[in-house]
Amino acid sequence: MRLLVIGGGGREHALCWALRRENPHADIYAAPGNPGTGTLATNLNIPSDDLDRLADAVDAYGIDLTVIGPEVPLAMGLADRLRGEGRVVFGPGAAAAQIEASKSFAKGVMERAGVTTARSASFSTLAEALAYVDAHPEPLVVKASGLAAGKGAVVCATRRDAAIAVRAMLGEKRFGSAGQVVVIEDFLEGEELSVFAVTNGREVRLLPAAQDHKRLLEGDQGPNTGGMGAYAPVSLASHDLLQMVERDVLLPTLAQLEDEGAPFSGLLYAGLMIGADGAPSVIEFNCRFGDPETQAVLPLIDGGLTDLLDAAARGVALPHVQLRQGAAVTTVLAAPGYPDTPRLGSIISIPDDLPEGVTIFHAGTRLEDGVLRVNGGRVLAVTGVAEGFAEAQEASRAGAQAVQFEGKVWRTDIGWREAARA
Ligand code: AMP
Ligand code: GLY
Repeated sequence: MRLLVIGGGGREHALCWALRRENPHADIYAAPGNPGTGTLATNLNIPSDDLDRLADAVDAYGIDLTVIGPEVPLAMGLADRLRGEGRVVFGPGAAAAQIEASKSFAKGVMERAGVTTARSASFSTLAEALAYVDAHPEPLVVKASGLAAGKGAVVCATRRDAAIAVRAMLGEKRFGSAGQVVVIEDFLEGEELSVFAVTNGREVRLLPAAQDHKRLLEGDQGPNTGGMGAYAPVSLASHDLLQMVERDVLLPTLAQLEDEGAPFSGLLYAGLMIGADGAPSVIEFNCRFGDPETQAVLPLIDGGLTDLLDAAARGVALPHVQLRQGAAVTTVLAAPGYPDTPRLGSIISIPDDLPEGVTIFHAGTRLEDGVLRVNGGRVLAVTGVAEGFAEAQEASRAGAQAVQFEGKVWRTDIGWREAARA
């Protein structure tokens, strides 16, 4: 079997790692990959947005299944392009990827499907957006509608802050084309949950639910980031809650997308707010695996992932994966200055004798003359897996502590809500 993973972050290292575990003899490629995927797969030096060269590589290497990690190539139509050439691809086409690439489109789909989400309105002119803000109760949330690498949502305590955010997007164009349309929505109270549904467009298989830690600093303070850590499973995500998410959120959204001529297959990621009443509201959808949640979720799968992704890609009946008992906690190590101006280049040292149960996934690293260096904002993700949550958290922390690079930024409190529940 010949497999190709598109992308080069921690999520893609985790995907290569899980696929390699299940397929010890397969030819696995990553494009562009990173030094971590390079230990498990053959890295192809092709950027994940170079559709022509990726299509050529799929052809040249006779790839049986392509798994697309990031949202950008999905929104650009890589899956359509490869499917058009008769290939098996895990990931939605460009039309369905709009569920992530346009928050304004996603809001419309949810409204038409009757899926609960924060009340909102979309604007492309500054004066109208400011007038809406002026009449809106506080707090409120301002979002760039397009793709903004996880940095396009601004939670505003006051209308004044919201007006500043709206001006930055529609006036100063600080988010470029992603901010040409802004979505202004009500603030949702509650606890966040990331639910990953593998789907062939009609049927879904849920992976263990995860919780991300988007803020930079301990206690969920500081600016939003791409994600500073995650854990799975989340005890808040009871069987009943997940059934409700499947019935009231995932299936109606998939049916609506299909009705609108944008059938979705691949991974539908529901970013949810669970309110005090226990009911889920959708904060956002993503059209791909989450990062860093994937680095916590995939180590809990004990077999069947390749078959599940392949079935979803082919549009046939979905098998079940085998899950292992236990918990996984992932701590992200970021570069100093992240998320605004990460400082790159420092030498990274990873000890050979990592604590038991610890796996390190590379994100922003590069190898230069055999020396591993910092090459991105989020540098590594350290996952601890154990029978219990507390041990997994301890393993992740100990692993994060053991890795060294100058100015390493990390949170010691990943999973604090779960710890508090226990
Ligand atoms: P998004 O880019 O839409 O995922 O938003 C990023 C983060 O902003 C979310 O993970 C939440 O923490 C927060 N957020 C977004 N929308 C809302 C909302 N309507 N109410 C409360 N928090 C929100
Ligand atoms: N961890 C959030 C995301 O992948 O969008």
